[in-house]
Amino acid sequence: MKIAIVGLGYVGLPLSLQFARSGVDVLGLDIDPLKVSEINQGRSYIGHIESAAVQEQVQAGRLSATEDFSRARDVTAVIICVPTPLNKNREPDISFILATGEALAPHLARGTLVVLESTTYPGTTDEDLRQVLEAGSGLKAGVDFHLAFSPEREDPGNPASKVAAIPKVIGGLTPACLARAQALYGRAIKNLVPVSSCRVAEATKLLENIFRGVNIALVNELKVVYAAMGIDVWEVIDAAKTKPFGFMAFYPGPGLGGHCVPIDPFYLTWKAREYGQHTRFIELAGQVNTAMPEYVVQRTTAALNAQCKSVRGSRILIMGLAYKPDVDDDRESPSYTLLDLFKTLGAEVSYHDPHVPVIRKTREHGHWAGTRSTAWDQATISAFDVVVIATAHRAVNYQQLLDWSHCIVDTRNATHGLAAKPGQVWKA
Ligand SMILES: NC(=O)c1ccc[n+]([C@@H]2O[C@H](COP(=O)([O-])OP(=O)(O)OC[C@H]3O[C@@H](n4cnc5c(N)ncnc54)[C@H](O)[C@@H]3O)[C@@H](O)[C@H]2O)c1
Repeated sequence: MKIAIVGLGYVGLPLSLQFARSGVDVLGLDIDPLKVSEINQGRSYIGHIESAAVQEQVQAGRLSATEDFSRARDVTAVIICVPTPLNKNREPDISFILATGEALAPHLARGTLVVLESTTYPGTTDEDLRQVLEAGSGLKAGVDFHLAFSPEREDPGNPASKVAAIPKVIGGLTPACLARAQALYGRAIKNLVPVSSCRVAEATKLLENIFRGVNIALVNELKVVYAAMGIDVWEVIDAAKTKPFGFMAFYPGPGLGGHCVPIDPFYLTWKAREYGQHTRFIELAGQVNTAMPEYVVQRTTAALNAQCKSVRGSRILIMGLAYKPDVDDDRESPSYTLLDLFKTLGAEVSYHDPHVPVIRKTREHGHWAGTRSTAWDQATISAFDVVVIATAHRAVNYQQLLDWSHCIVDTRNATHGLAAKPGQVWKA
């Protein structure tokens, strides 16, 4: 069996490796020549994926990559894992999916299965993608080729998260499309969860991410309320999670980050309008979560004030640039908002992140490109007026941070249980 996986990013690369390990020949398709070349040389460009894992499959002849979409003609199935961001008006941008469909369509052989994995609003597969594939190929979905949607559930940085062990939801355009998709994923994934349509599968992924966004907003709101009452929300959550039923722990932070939770819910908000529906929970959660960096700034201002210092002129270190622990993924990271806010207030800002030694050039944070992670030594760290822990990477020694720094604003409870000087740690 030979398949193509389009989009070799955080989702596509681990999926390619899982299929290759399962004995399927995988052709990776990407428009980024660097990624294509790295894969063909057996190298990983994603921090938490070992190069050895890529090299093993490349050497075994089960994995190769190309920019040439005409090679899709030789495969029995194509899985699409391309980005689905929001545009500058915070509306869905499915242009990457459409561009992929347009590039594939002329090379789509009769009988091929096409599966979309990118997170998106219900209707993308059976309306938008279907339309470009049919128009460019002259073939009919559900008749001449099969079409399905199966959302990705990758949890980057979680060592317990193995692609093969995560149940996979699949919806097909027709029962035959579903059966084909089940046969494909059955080669590499243990538990499959068939649902009645592509739209149900698309809506399932959105529910999962909305659930996270809303619950994170809830604990973020409670953090602020409880802090005003002198109650530590982390202690409350630890106590509440001892309840063996009906409770699931979510943790507050400096704001939402990553490619999924801050973005995907708004795909539904946009599509819901077409049906005259409003997504009030999503909007409210968005408001609460996006207000978090400002709350952190307020707490930092108070912490500096207690030392008779102002934000203007202070040296502020943001610990952790990635949006979650133990990964190098800085997309949508609230750390950037913190850097921007403090800089605007006149502070001298720096960051430290063992996973992000230098800030790459991106569309959103171009002005920080080239900035380097500060050194990790006592002289450097103790020169900051305040350190804001934004991401709690395990690679950081927090006791050392406490020993070296004057004042810490901890948004992740990373210093919990460690020896701090009186008044040194401010939770935020
Ligand atoms: N990262 C996650 O943890 C995660 C989890 C679940 C779902 N998702 C979803 O999966 C999708 C992909 O996310 P990702 O994090 O892997 O993105 P990514 O940016 O890491 O990777 C996307 C890849 O697609 C390539 N690409 C872009 N346009 C292309 C085109 N026209 N043809 C071929 N390749 C193209 C890019 O070069 C890049 O290598 C998104 O819809 C995302 O919401 C991501």
